[in-house]
Amino acid sequence: MTILVTGGAGFIGSNFVLDWFAQGAGPVINLDKLTYAGNPANLHALKDNPEHVFVHGDICDRELVRSLLERHAPRAIVHFAAESHVDRSIHGPGDFVQTNILGTFTLLEEVRSWLEKQAPSRREDFRFLHVSTDEVFGSLAPHDPPFKESTPFAPNSPYAASKAAADHLVRAYHHTYGLPTLTVNCSNNYGPYQFPEKLIPLMILNAITHKPLPVYGEGGNVRDWLYVQDHCTAIRRVLERGRVGESYNVGGYNQKTNLEVVNAICALLDEARPNRKSPHSMLISFVKDRPGHDRRYAMDATKIAIQLEWTPSESFDSGLRKTVAWYLDNPDWVAHVTSGAYRQWIEKNYAKRGEA
Ligand code: NAD
Ligand code: DAU
Repeated sequence: MTILVTGGAGFIGSNFVLDWFAQGAGPVINLDKLTYAGNPANLHALKDNPEHVFVHGDICDRELVRSLLERHAPRAIVHFAAESHVDRSIHGPGDFVQTNILGTFTLLEEVRSWLEKQAPSRREDFRFLHVSTDEVFGSLAPHDPPFKESTPFAPNSPYAASKAAADHLVRAYHHTYGLPTLTVNCSNNYGPYQFPEKLIPLMILNAITHKPLPVYGEGGNVRDWLYVQDHCTAIRRVLERGRVGESYNVGGYNQKTNLEVVNAICALLDEARPNRKSPHSMLISFVKDRPGHDRRYAMDATKIAIQLEWTPSESFDSGLRKTVAWYLDNPDWVAHVTSGAYRQWIEKNYAKRGEA
């Protein structure tokens, strides 16, 4: 019943692993390179759980992947490991090509040759679930219909292009070799354990430390926000009931402009941490836009709703409230991840941005 999770010390991966154990779903081998985004502290609750085996390693390491497959004979791989931040992909796309494309290729190749040696029943039951993004579909104009699974790929950032390449490889390994693959393409996640380079945690942490809130451009770009635990539920559902070879769009039905999101965070902080002098929204600062910034993402998640009976359970208001509370309640986690290299990233991404 063991599954192999890649990237299970990152934001979504660690939420998924914690949820998996909360469901009593079985043993997990957790393979993670522990880049800046991977954090063993996210998995602290599992430290005495013998069913959670953490392996510090790289998905690009063929021998390691091979030995894990041979030793643990997992029934599935849930593949989260990736370089995930668009701004970092603009500053340095090399790591994105390496991990997101070549890493996925390595996993697919090793799974293919390992599965060939397995009994037909194990081959039939095995699943390779690839976690991908709505960004592979490109950008929508304000009144365009949301992305469907059949929307042609048009990735715009190096990150999105690397994920699109990985999605194509996964598709090809099913089509050519019959690998039992599943893909989920999900919209923007938010919630506990998200590294504060991403919009929501960055704004919460800047606001509570009275730093400027750097909104790119005019703040009119739209994202479709999904609470991370809803994404975890969707992944479990696809793993259990998804049709092999198919992809499923997952979204939150919560389209918001960035300015709406930042104002909502400020309003929650005005309640939880009132600032005597001025509301938190006074910290909003419009800065130079992200190059090639996608205007709008929105997901049509009808397929997963109808075929697999999954819909999100958290509203944006309730999810954001929980998220803000989590960051306020976990100052040690915050202090750990915002030391050292984090400061260098903030300097690199924001110092030369100036005003919009
Ligand atoms: P994250 O950056 O928080 O975590 C990525 C994890 O992968 C980290 O633990 C890191 O150490 C690990 N990792 C990176 N390179 C590795 C390598 N070569 N070998 C092994 N481990 C490696 O990312 P996230 O936000 O949790 O995203 C997880 C997945 O979900 C990614 O594939 C991402 O593309 C996808 N996704 C994310 C979102 C989102 O809003 N965050 C939305 C849709 C899809
Ligand atoms: O859509 C799914 C994707 O969502 C995932 O595939 C990515 O891994 C994940 O990082 C996320 O990408 P985005 O680029 O949409 O997320 P980010 O949090 O970086 O930015 C969200 C929006 O906020 C985007 O329009 C850019 C804007 N932004 C971001 C930052 C960090 C700002 O205005 N200011 C900021 O400082």
